[in-house]
Amino acid sequence: GKGLFTYDPGFVSTAACESKITYIDGEKGILLHGGYPIEQLAEHSDYLETCYLLLNGELPNAEEKEKFVSIVKNHTMVHEQMSHFFNGFRRDAHPMAIMVACVGALSAFYHDSLDINDAHHREVCAFRLIAKMPTLAAMCYKYSIGQPFMYPRNELGYAENFLHMMFGTPCEEYKPSPVLAKAMDRIFLLHADHEQNASTSTVRLAGSSGANPFACISSGIAALWGPAHGGANEAVLTMLEEIGDEANIPEFIERAKDPEDPFRLMGFGHRVYRNFDPRAKVMKATCDQVLAELGVEDEPLLKIAKRLEQIALEDEYFVERKLYPNVDFYSGIILKAIGIPTSMFTVIFALSRTIGWISHWNEFHSSPNRIGRPRQLYTGPQKRDYPA
Ligand code: SDX
Repeated sequence: GKGLFTYDPGFVSTAACESKITYIDGEKGILLHGGYPIEQLAEHSDYLETCYLLLNGELPNAEEKEKFVSIVKNHTMVHEQMSHFFNGFRRDAHPMAIMVACVGALSAFYHDSLDINDAHHREVCAFRLIAKMPTLAAMCYKYSIGQPFMYPRNELGYAENFLHMMFGTPCEEYKPSPVLAKAMDRIFLLHADHEQNASTSTVRLAGSSGANPFACISSGIAALWGPAHGGANEAVLTMLEEIGDEANIPEFIERAKDPEDPFRLMGFGHRVYRNFDPRAKVMKATCDQVLAELGVEDEPLLKIAKRLEQIALEDEYFVERKLYPNVDFYSGIILKAIGIPTSMFTVIFALSRTIGWISHWNEFHSSPNRIGRPRQLYTGPQKRDYPA
């Protein structure tokens, strides 16, 4: 071992957790949910069906899917008093700060009626969270622009309903085109779960103490916010806008390679994937579809993104380190094209990932468990006496 103390490699194995929800092969760029490849789910499934799969381990039949969707629709409103929380925030508060607070505050509405050892109670928590995240997310956006909150309309599909709450007003209905609604649903689906990433591990660890699931999800939102994790999609757009023109790309590539410069190429690299992130490939195809539908194929940011990707895939520094575009690289361009402000990008990621977090939380509580206690490698001073 390293440092002052040796350690038993065996303890490392206790640090890993068992799960049957998602499988990733970083070398081969494989992502499976319940054994189904993400590419096939993106092509043939939708977000709510994938939510069912993540929660139950099997795809629903038509009847099971219809029941699942109708239960979610019965939970889309939040308690009317939740709207008072928003008034405590400045209008320009980052929406992730509001989401951490409001999702955690859901505990206050459901705390005493909840037995986390009861599988049905846990399932109801999942339904409430899947259903309410879009409503709370849209409330964050409406609050930031001074428009009234829009109530969910349950005759709409999940992604359509979210876009209605984001862009509809009491004066004018918003009806997204099927291509935009499908692109939104696909973004939700592609971000749904990703094994033991930083935020999911946070939720599992918080859940292991027996904490209220809404508080656990709030801890996941907080962990996701970082630019190295879910905050990367917002950081990608900021980076592309900072680059501004293809002519400036070489300068940013050099900065990304400079060990003295903290700048990283946002949307590239991954803790696990040492190959193309399979979600990035689907995201790229969706991006092309959306921009073509909107007639903005020549969107300058997309041209910069594609040129960046091409250079990074050829440049020795990136090739050597197996730094490929990840899930965040193209999602921001799609979200911007749909009209969603960059400040809301990580909120969209949190909305999407809630099913992953709550599925892992549920899995943890579905079998005998113990509080999590990550081990450490102590590298501090040896025992010594206080000076006489
Ligand atoms: C997500 O875990 C998950 O599954 C996360 C996620 C999910 O769905 O939950 O997939 C979502 O978080 C995707 C990642 C989004 N983050 C970004 O796009 C931010 C930019 N990426 C980097 O910060 C970085 O790649 C990480 C944080 C994603 C991964 O960090 P690692 O694995 O610790 O990478 P590393 O530090 O081991 O990198 C190895 C080398 C280093 O250089 P050397 O020290 O060997 O010389 O590659 C370099 C790094 O400096 N490097 C980069 C780089 N990423 C790594 N250099 C330039 N630009 C980058 N983006």
